[in-house]
Amino acid sequence: MLRKKLDDFIYYSQHEWVYFSGSFYYISSIMKTWQQSREDCQQKKADLIIINSKEEQDFCKKFQKAMWIGLTETEGVWKWVDGTGLITSFWGPNEPNNYKGRNEDCAVTGYHSGETSWNDGLCETQNFWICEKTMSL
Ligand code: BGC
Ligand code: CA
Repeated sequence: MLRKKLDDFIYYSQHEWVYFSGSFYYISSIMKTWQQSREDCQQKKADLIIINSKEEQDFCKKFQKAMWIGLTETEGVWKWVDGTGLITSFWGPNEPNNYKGRNEDCAVTGYHSGETSWNDGLCETQNFWICEKTMSL
């Protein structure tokens, strides 16, 4: 069991993932829709990032690009990919706004500059993305 965790740790650290505070993160260098991005993370035995602290939000900022995160809206309610509700949020100025009356149901971090950088965007548009693999030893 500890061996498995150690093997995972070695695997992710050697495959261009970045370690930060208990998780490994993968930052894509190409762009995909939200759903395709999520599928890529799942193929890598991870999922789109769930941001649960200011530290994690700040961590994303340093990659300096707009990236899909694991947060979507269904019937007015924002939920993370693990099914939990949105408690701490980092929406940019005037977001989420369903811009021009469109259903912007997928969230992007790093869209606005500054600490509150999230945008709600159209899920079908293409963006970079960030996967998270939680790793507790
Ligand atoms: C708005 C965003 C919107 C985006 C759509 C931006 O100008 O600030 O809220 O999602 O346009 O392309
Ligand atoms: Ca928006």
